[in-house]
Amino acid sequence: MLDVLLDGLASLEYRGYDSAGIAVEAGEDLWRARAATGTRSLDDLRKLASAAPAGVFAGIGHTRWATHGAPVEANAHPHLDCTGTVAVVHNGIIENCRELSEMLLGEGHDLISETDTELLAHLVERELATGASLADALRATLRQVEGAFALAVMWPGEPGTIVAARRVSPLVLGRVDIAGPPTAGPGTAGPGTAGPPTAGPGTAGPGTAGPPTAGPEGCQWMLASDVPALLGRTRTFWVIEDDQLAELRAGSMRVTTLAGKDVEPSELHVEWDVEAAQKGGFDDFMSKEMHEQPRAIADTLLGRALPGGLLALDQMRISDEELREVDKVVVVACGSSYHAGLVAKFAIEHWARLPAEIDIASEFRYRDPILDRRTLVVGVSQSGETVDTLQAMREARRWDAKVLVISNVVDSSMAREADGVLYTRAGPEIGVAATKTHLAQIVALEVLALYLAQLRGIIYPTEVERLLDDIARLPELVQLALDRSDSVRAVAAKYAATRDFFFLGRNVGFPVALEGALKLKELAYLRAEGYPAGELKHGPIALIEPGTVVVGVATRTRLWEKMMGNIAEVRSRGATVVLVANDGDDQAGSEADDVLWVPATHPVLAPVVDVVPLQLFAYHLARRHGHDVDRPRNLAKTVTVE
Ligand code: AGP
Repeated sequence: MLDVLLDGLASLEYRGYDSAGIAVEAGEDLWRARAATGTRSLDDLRKLASAAPAGVFAGIGHTRWATHGAPVEANAHPHLDCTGTVAVVHNGIIENCRELSEMLLGEGHDLISETDTELLAHLVERELATGASLADALRATLRQVEGAFALAVMWPGEPGTIVAARRVSPLVLGRVDIAGPPTAGPGTAGPGTAGPPTAGPGTAGPGTAGPPTAGPEGCQWMLASDVPALLGRTRTFWVIEDDQLAELRAGSMRVTTLAGKDVEPSELHVEWDVEAAQKGGFDDFMSKEMHEQPRAIADTLLGRALPGGLLALDQMRISDEELREVDKVVVVACGSSYHAGLVAKFAIEHWARLPAEIDIASEFRYRDPILDRRTLVVGVSQSGETVDTLQAMREARRWDAKVLVISNVVDSSMAREADGVLYTRAGPEIGVAATKTHLAQIVALEVLALYLAQLRGIIYPTEVERLLDDIARLPELVQLALDRSDSVRAVAAKYAATRDFFFLGRNVGFPVALEGALKLKELAYLRAEGYPAGELKHGPIALIEPGTVVVGVATRTRLWEKMMGNIAEVRSRGATVVLVANDGDDQAGSEADDVLWVPATHPVLAPVVDVVPLQLFAYHLARRHGHDVDRPRNLAKTVTVE
């Protein structure tokens, strides 16, 4: 059984993790081992597992991609309750963790980790003390929990029992038909990385198949937060839906609703090989991660927009009073993160009415910046390790500026050195080209801009609430843009022979033009220049001739008319024009040879949606040219050299 756990964890290594752990049933007790040694965690866990008690047949395991709390052993899953007998693994974010921990601390529970997951173990403990069964204790627990979860819990008080549940984060049941009588059931490697949407390792639950009746003779059930964890052992899966529980016991398995009503989960048969499963059925990680963008945005917003238009930022070690004193914001970043910073400039100046400078990090340090204790320097970096940005942040601290970092990696070098951290929650990004982390960064920066505006009292809570409603719709709008991938591919095919592109944008459309050009460069290895459309007449228009391909960002933002004027300038010189335009904008459509349609949104939020067709455009052209979109030549995912 231990192999089922550990192999399940190993099959999800590609997702990245910073710690791992297992808990198995050992008679009256639980035996737990955890390792927080980065990418060595699984190897170290295997060594620790050699000391596990013999004859184990139920257990849970987990690999963690930290979002709450540093990647240290104390924060590694499984987490236990005060008695040390309730073990939980969890993938997701508990939005109301603050009030739940206050309640538990008030009742004398001993919370020893920085994670939201540990609360679940104590909440289950609390319900078990009322005499509830493990399943009912978990039901009562989940009725108190807000947020996303895929979790598994076990307790020696009900030997051989594993109860799992999900809301938003994925969870699947797998069945392994084995010879001989139904076993009590192998172990369980519960959902894995803490923090959506990355899912942890597989779960091997005990018992026979067939909710709610006993399954066929001699079968074992497994629970997985992701198919690859179990694919080596089965191709038959059942999908657990939101707010459903799976109860695995020796000899039986059932799926019920949170209200306890039996349901029949839908069965699916998976033909993928393990690698395809790791890509979630997509051809490559880049397309998988582009399609994870709606979830990445939603998860980055989780727990930050409070009722009444209030905002809460996490891991901020800069006080509100210090933020109120800020009289200038400087954003330092590289590449796609720099483009996210350019969008932030509009949000910070428009909503917070603060001067915002956006610097390429590798230039910032050498320009003698004027900073002081009232300057807020924001480092934007998905890896949190880009040395240009890290050094720029260190330069800022030398000038006594407050330093905030927006990063996708908990406890990264930048996160450790900053005065405050605002994590994106895009999950590990395997593809070298930034996609979901770029969108999550823009959203995090816009939330920061609103937060600064709120603190400075220059925006009403009702206005914040309305803007948060617009922001909350972004996942749906990004999904709409993604659903048009086939039409983007058809447009890209028309330009398969084009060797250089001009990307134009104005105002918030300019950073989108830059990001679209960067994607084409780094994925399709094509010459692509992003340029402010208003600047064309100051020289670059000399380049425009019949056949020049111009890609314009022409959604209905503040300078749409002027942008259309610039498009007319290039068309009159024979350019071929591809426009990113809002659905139904026939006027823009009439000025273009091809249109990449996107739904409209608030102008300052438009870059989040408008960049999606340009990501797809670059992706499809790169695929047509036969390039490796996940690992483009010459590039590294994290640039740790100057
Ligand atoms: C973007 O697709 C590239 N991978 C690259 O420009 C990247 O954005 C840049 O290196 C910054 O990386 P960071 O966000 O990890 O700091």
